[in-house]
Amino acid sequence: MGLLDGKVAVVTGAGGGLGETHALLLAKEGAAVVVNDLGGARDGSGGSASMADQVVNKIKAAGGKAVADYGNVASEADAQAMVKRAVDEFGKIDFMIANAGILRDKSFKNMTNDMWDVVVDVHLRGTYLTVKAAYDQMIEQGEGGSIVVTSSTSGLIGNFGQTNYGAAKAGIAGFARCLFQEGAKYGIRVNILAPAAWSRLTEDIFPQGQNMEELLSADKVSPIVVWLGSDEAKPVTGRTFLVQGNSVTLLSWQSHMLATKDNNEGPWDVTEVGETVMQHFENWPKGPQPTPREF
Ligand SMILES: NC(=O)c1ccc[n+]([C@@H]2O[C@H](COP(=O)([O-])OP(=O)(O)OC[C@H]3O[C@@H](n4cnc5c(N)ncnc54)[C@H](O)[C@@H]3O)[C@@H](O)[C@H]2O)c1
Repeated sequence: MGLLDGKVAVVTGAGGGLGETHALLLAKEGAAVVVNDLGGARDGSGGSASMADQVVNKIKAAGGKAVADYGNVASEADAQAMVKRAVDEFGKIDFMIANAGILRDKSFKNMTNDMWDVVVDVHLRGTYLTVKAAYDQMIEQGEGGSIVVTSSTSGLIGNFGQTNYGAAKAGIAGFARCLFQEGAKYGIRVNILAPAAWSRLTEDIFPQGQNMEELLSADKVSPIVVWLGSDEAKPVTGRTFLVQGNSVTLLSWQSHMLATKDNNEGPWDVTEVGETVMQHFENWPKGPQPTPREF
């Protein structure tokens, strides 16, 4: 007996890294899985069937149910086709994990429009298109569903050299924070994952020689993601989870009043508002610190 027996999941970018470990664990917990992957390079160039196929073969060898899909998440037709594949092969979709991603890191000084566009296209538009296809199908089925989108601390906190990626990842989180409010009406839950794991995306970014490959292996992130697709997770929606190694952290908001006066009064004087907010500057929460690299 698995926690997801009888459920059908689509995982985008599941031919390697986190998507692969999500797909393998979903199948182990009893879900039938559409393993989508374009099979390109880390920067999004190229494509092949081999990445999705090798994950499907692993799932089938272990006695699970899976089918490969080689579509591009940034194509509307491909996004619709991967959800249709779930319905055609397994009868429905219960769980969409929008995970596919690429990197084109560059300091902003050297950023080009192409680097900006392709990263925003795959991450933000790709998440929109695949989630839209899944969401529409879930509404048609009338039994709710679960969606997990993949953000990043780059978008939620910040990271040197990733203005394109950070913008897309912040966009994904904003998208999900709006969508979960609409999905509640249909029993569709939407949660946000901000992972950290050793993969081809991060192997030259993480500190080297510190056993990170094992300490932060991708399979340590997948259990909470898979759980979010189960009926046990029905009360959980609209939440952001930072997951690295065996730690699951809930990201929540804090606000800090810096200056206030009665709204019946006129606006602040510019100098006065500046002086007021700076009165307790040393007590402001510490902001993120830059970690400069060369690009
Ligand atoms: N690894 C980390 O520490 C980390 C941190 C924050 C966020 N993330 C995010 O997690 C997700 C998975 O990353 P990963 O580290 O496993 O990287 P990865 O490169 O191992 O996996 C990404 C997969 O997506 C596939 N893909 C790329 N473009 C695609 C497209 N257009 N259509 C379909 N598939 C496509 C790739 O072929 C690849 O198999 C990404 O969204 C990434 O931005 C990862």
